[in-house]
Amino acid sequence: MADIRETPDATTERTPLNFLGGEGAMARYPEMREREPVAREEPFGGYWVLTRYADVSKAARDWKTFRAGQPFVELPDFPKVIPQTIDPPEHSMYRKVLNAYFTPEYIENLRPAVERYVDEHVTTLLEGGRGEVVTELAAMLPMRVLAALMSMPEETYLVFMEGFEKIMAAGSDPEALNALVSDYWAPTVNALIADRTANPRDPATDLMSGVLAATGPDGQPWGPEVAGAIAVLLFSAGSETTTNALTSMLHHLATHPEDQQRLRLEPELIPAFVEEILRLYPPLHQLARNTTKDVELHGVTMPAGDLVALSWAAANRDPDAFPEPDRAIFDRPRERTHLTMGMGPHQCLGAPVARLELALVCEKILARTGNIRLEGPTEPAPMIPLRSGYSVLHLAFD
Ligand code: HEM
Repeated sequence: MADIRETPDATTERTPLNFLGGEGAMARYPEMREREPVAREEPFGGYWVLTRYADVSKAARDWKTFRAGQPFVELPDFPKVIPQTIDPPEHSMYRKVLNAYFTPEYIENLRPAVERYVDEHVTTLLEGGRGEVVTELAAMLPMRVLAALMSMPEETYLVFMEGFEKIMAAGSDPEALNALVSDYWAPTVNALIADRTANPRDPATDLMSGVLAATGPDGQPWGPEVAGAIAVLLFSAGSETTTNALTSMLHHLATHPEDQQRLRLEPELIPAFVEEILRLYPPLHQLARNTTKDVELHGVTMPAGDLVALSWAAANRDPDAFPEPDRAIFDRPRERTHLTMGMGPHQCLGAPVARLELALVCEKILARTGNIRLEGPTEPAPMIPLRSGYSVLHLAFD
């Protein structure tokens, strides 16, 4: 398969956004926001890109005009996932049930398990004064936490990890991705569904039992297919994203000693720091919608049925929304939220889980080190383009 990061044609004046890694895309956004706020990109049969905060946040909330249905990752044939590809009012039925497993109280119950995993991975990473972040911490932690969230056997995460590594290596080939989901993730998810069907647990404390007990407007259970689609979405939406955010956070700390020092002295700023990390380095730069009618914006008409990418990454660095957008400012006024977790009906379900992982890793690494610095090579994450994060990140600890 071709390396999707390389320029397809050396004579092409402008590399399509979809062929760029996170850094390259970040460099492109200021010009797009300023001069071409409704930009046209050619891959996937052509699509529009919105880059200004006001436009992206409005479109994300306007689900009647900008329909979901596009897959979570921007690949043409990714299997349908629930509820990310479904619009209200049906979407609300799914979120009502799922939201109960992501309340602050529910996530608080998950904290001891997450804390234990973080302690284990941080110990491994710090051993000998140096470590590689992805293999020793960032790839495994989100998978273990997802297994705990769904009360799956702890070793499950190893199967998901193997699948995940192969999925990352498969790049953007939809057929290969579908096959890997079937080979690695489907058997484990199906075993979980079979177990909870045969031995239902208390839906108040077991996500999959709650999903299997839920019924539609016709009074019929959602069924195992819906349960499987939800489980696959949770694992795919909650793993690579969190891995990339963890690597971005640790890279930022290693390259900003002044931020390390301030957070060691004022650990109560860690939640604000995590928000700035999410704003500055969005693991997913953009996600797609379809227009339900002709939409005119900034003198451009996007015809009905067209594909429109909402660029969370470009919007997050819009100086009209966030003054000095490229700096991590811990005491930024909170009246405007960044868009890394989306906005509107599809706003990230798992955001509190990701925030807990990021905050605990930050807190524990800072508490156990005097200085964190880069050591050895780093490699950017985007085997799939338009990502921020690292696939290799060597650090040293003093
Ligand atoms: C830093 C980590 C994460 C990032 C950057 C992220 C980003 C996003 C974004 C941008 C959306 C909105 C999708 C849209 O508008 O179409 C979303 C939705 C979603 N995320 Fe996350 N996510 C993260 C972690 C997680 C975790 C840990 C989970 C699971 C525990 C999760 C589960 C979901 C689900 C199920 C949806 C679909 C919600 C819906 O359609 O109603 N995410 N996420």
